[in-house]
Amino acid sequence: MWNKILDASIFWSFDLSGYLRHEKDFNEAYSFPKESRALITGGTSGIGQAAALELIKQGVQVTITGRNLIRGEALEKSYPDLKFKQMDMAEWSDFDALVNQVDPLDYLVLNAGGMPEKFNTNKQGVELQFASQLFGHYILTHKLVRAGKLKSGARIVWVTSGGMYLKALDIKTIFKNQKYNKVDTYANVKRAQVTLLPFFKKEFPDQIVTAMHPGWAATPGVDEAIPEFAKKMSGRLRTPLQGADTILWLLSTKKKIESGELYFDRKKVSPHFFWFTKKSSTQSNKLQELLKKQLIDL
Ligand SMILES: NC(=O)c1ccc[n+]([C@@H]2O[C@H](COP(=O)([O-])OP(=O)(O)OC[C@H]3O[C@@H](n4cnc5c(N)ncnc54)[C@H](OP(=O)(O)O)[C@@H]3O)[C@@H](O)[C@H]2O)c1
Repeated sequence: MWNKILDASIFWSFDLSGYLRHEKDFNEAYSFPKESRALITGGTSGIGQAAALELIKQGVQVTITGRNLIRGEALEKSYPDLKFKQMDMAEWSDFDALVNQVDPLDYLVLNAGGMPEKFNTNKQGVELQFASQLFGHYILTHKLVRAGKLKSGARIVWVTSGGMYLKALDIKTIFKNQKYNKVDTYANVKRAQVTLLPFFKKEFPDQIVTAMHPGWAATPGVDEAIPEFAKKMSGRLRTPLQGADTILWLLSTKKKIESGELYFDRKKVSPHFFWFTKKSSTQSNKLQELLKKQLIDL
């Protein structure tokens, strides 16, 4: 009963105390087959980096991507089992080089995410958060599958955010947004990722596609994008590795994982807390068409 009340508070669930409370029920250690391979987008910092380093510790060969050459190369130098490929997730034409380079993967973590201060679009006219976190990840996954670089049964994890619980999907702002607000756009993109989970399940029937949200973790991204929140929450945020725990568990668990579902702290959770985020399927269908169209146009 007490746990239910604390979980409903959100604050005492997404924060460090929530992790420490939920962790008491975790009963599986990570375990990965020898010579398995993972690709993590946005592995140069925060949660993605923590996941990459833990996978390496577990004997997995890891490729990370990111835009920051200095951080990526420094990691590559420090960890012989880690490869770095510099890549912006909004620059879709760069994906082929990575796809050609990797050996067939067992795990794909779609983690890259940031909050640009100003509205901007990529070459295809798509707003940068949508272009990188939604379209980019979708296109990259398709390219990997087409090239036979994502094994049958491979696990794909989308890293979304609890911020989406406050946002209903709004696809009007994908190409134009005169009232751009970075946090609102971020929540919208994360809502889009979660809304499309059933679609991804159908698009990638040979793989297991899930999403997770990490709660609130202390990362360079949080410090930079929402410094007031980081300051207020000082001492109450999860570590990057605690934020990455459900990613690592979803990749490694022997329990039955259902494709198309959202997870938090190793449990399947609802994508909605509030009625106003449950909109008609029209927006979702249109978004699916937009994604498929970008694939054809590439
Ligand atoms: N920390 C939290 O409390 C929290 C909460 C909810 C959700 N999340 C999600 O967790 C994921 C990781 O966030 P984090 O907190 O660890 O942030 P972070 O420390 O800023 O790490 C973000 C990573 O994404 C990469 N990235 C960002 N934009 C990119 C782009 N356009 N192209 C390629 N790489 C890009 C960054 O690499 P470069 O800088 O090298 O490009 C970096 O490696 C994100 O999807 C975020 O939305 C985090």
